[in-house]
Amino acid sequence: MIIKSTLSIDLNEQISKIDPRIWGSFTEHLGRCIYEGIYQPEHKTADEDGFRQDVIEAVKKLHVPLIRYPGGNFVSGYNWQDGIGPKDQRPTRLDLAWRSMETNQFGLHEFMKWCAKVNAKPDMAVNLGTRGVDEARNLVEYCNFPKGTYWSDLRRKNGAEEPFNIKVWSVGNEMDGDWQIGHKTAHEYGRLVHETAKAMRLVDPSVELVACGSSNHQNTTFGTWEETVLDNAYADVDYLSLHQYYDNFDDNLEEFLGKSVDFDRFITDVVAICDAVKARKHSDKQINLALDEWNVWYHSMEDDKKQKPWTKAPHLLEDHYNFEDALLVGSLAITLLKHADRVKIGCLAQLINVIAPIMTKTSGDPSVWYQSIFYPFMQVSNYGQGIALAQKTDVPTYKSKTYEVPYTDSIAVYNPKTHETVVFIVNKAKDKIPFTLNLANAQFDSLVAATQFAGYDIHQTNEDQSMKLTPLNNLTVSKDHVNADLEPLSWNMIRIKTEV
Ligand code: AHR
Repeated sequence: MIIKSTLSIDLNEQISKIDPRIWGSFTEHLGRCIYEGIYQPEHKTADEDGFRQDVIEAVKKLHVPLIRYPGGNFVSGYNWQDGIGPKDQRPTRLDLAWRSMETNQFGLHEFMKWCAKVNAKPDMAVNLGTRGVDEARNLVEYCNFPKGTYWSDLRRKNGAEEPFNIKVWSVGNEMDGDWQIGHKTAHEYGRLVHETAKAMRLVDPSVELVACGSSNHQNTTFGTWEETVLDNAYADVDYLSLHQYYDNFDDNLEEFLGKSVDFDRFITDVVAICDAVKARKHSDKQINLALDEWNVWYHSMEDDKKQKPWTKAPHLLEDHYNFEDALLVGSLAITLLKHADRVKIGCLAQLINVIAPIMTKTSGDPSVWYQSIFYPFMQVSNYGQGIALAQKTDVPTYKSKTYEVPYTDSIAVYNPKTHETVVFIVNKAKDKIPFTLNLANAQFDSLVAATQFAGYDIHQTNEDQSMKLTPLNNLTVSKDHVNADLEPLSWNMIRIKTEV
C-alpha cells in the first residue's frame, strides 16, 4: 500500500491565536538542573552572577518565554526563605523529594536575574505540601508588593528595589500523587487552593493562578480529581495543569509513537471536565489548560535507583534522548498546537540536564550539548507562533497495541507578523510518504525554508553532536498547494511566504 498524506487548510478557518507561553519550560532544584546547569560559579563560562553563559546561549536558542520554578516535587518541601539573603547565611537542607543535599546558593533572586538574562518570565510554584496559605501570601507580598511592608522591604534589603511582579503562579505541584510530600485528597487540595488563591489575590489581584490537575492521564484519580478541585476552586484559578511523561520500556516503536493519541485524548478529556463544571456552576468563566510538565522520561530510571542519597547536584533523571524520542516530542508539540484554543501554557520538562533538551559537561569542549529532542522543540518554539489553523487531514492509520494512529501528525500555523505559513509534520511510517498541503483563501508565494530531521537509527542518541536538521529537498510550491516527499520516520518543517 502506498501511504499518502494530505493536509488542507483555509486561512479563514482558525483554531485560535497561539499563546507564546505554550513553549515554556521548567527548571527544578533537582539533580544538575540548577547546580552545574544554570549556576556554577567556578565554571570557565560563568558570568559575574555565577551563571553559565554557555547554558544561557543554548537556552536563548529555544526562546522559552516562561519558566516554571523551583519544582516539581522539590517545591512541596521547600522553604523559599532559605534561598534569599546573604549566601553565606543560607542553610543547607535535606531535599526529601530527591533525597539530595540543597545548599540554597541559588534561590529566588538568582532565578529572577537568570530569567531576565534568558528573556523569560517566571512561573513561580508555591509549596502546598508542607506549607500553605501563609507561605504563599508572604511570597506574593515579597515578590510583588512595592514597598513599606515587612516582606516587600526585605526584598528591597536583599537587592531588588523594584517588585518582581510575577504574574503566573503554580498553586502546588502534583498534589494528587501519593509520592508528593504533603499529598492531599482532591477535596483537601481543592479547599486549600480556594483559600490560598483568595489570600494571594488579596495581596495582588493581577496574579494568574494554575491549580494542579492530574500528574498523568493514567492516574486512578484522574477525572474525579479535576472535577472535585474545580468544584471547590473554579472561581479562584485561571488554569488547570496537566502533567504527562511517556516511556518506551517495551521498545515498541509503533506503540510509542502512538502515545500522542493519548496526549490528545488527555487534553480533550480535561477540557470536557472543565466545561462540565462550568456548566454546572452556570459560570461565564472559562478555565484554560497549563501542560506544565510534558516530555519523554524513562531512560534514566534504573540508574537513578542506584544513586547515593544526600549528595549535592547528583546525576539524576539524565535521560539521553534518542531519535524516536525526538519524533514523539515533535508529535506532542503538534498536539499542543491542535489545542491552542485551550492550552495557553506549556512547559517542556525540563530545560537543562534533567530530562532536558540541553545537557552540560563539567569539563571538555563543547561544554554544552544538544539532545535529539532539542531540534523539534527549537523549531516549534521559534516558528510555532501566530495562529493555529484548523486542519482537514486525509491519511490512513495503523493499529498499535493500544492506539489507532495516523501515519502522519501535522499542523499548520499562519504567522501574520512574518506572513509565513509554517507546517510541522511527523512521518511515523517506515516508508516515504508523499505529502500535500492544500491552501484556501490565500496564496502561497515562495518557499522560505524546508528542513527535516531524518535518517537516523531510532535508538541513536546525540552525545557526539552528529544529529542535525537537513534540507528537505524535492519540494514543489504552487499558489494553492505544496508537495513534498517525507522521509521514513521523520520530523519536518516547511515555511512558505503567504499572501492573504
Ligand atoms: O520533572 C520531574 C518530576 O516529575 C517533577 O518534580 C514532578 O512534578 C513530576 O513527577
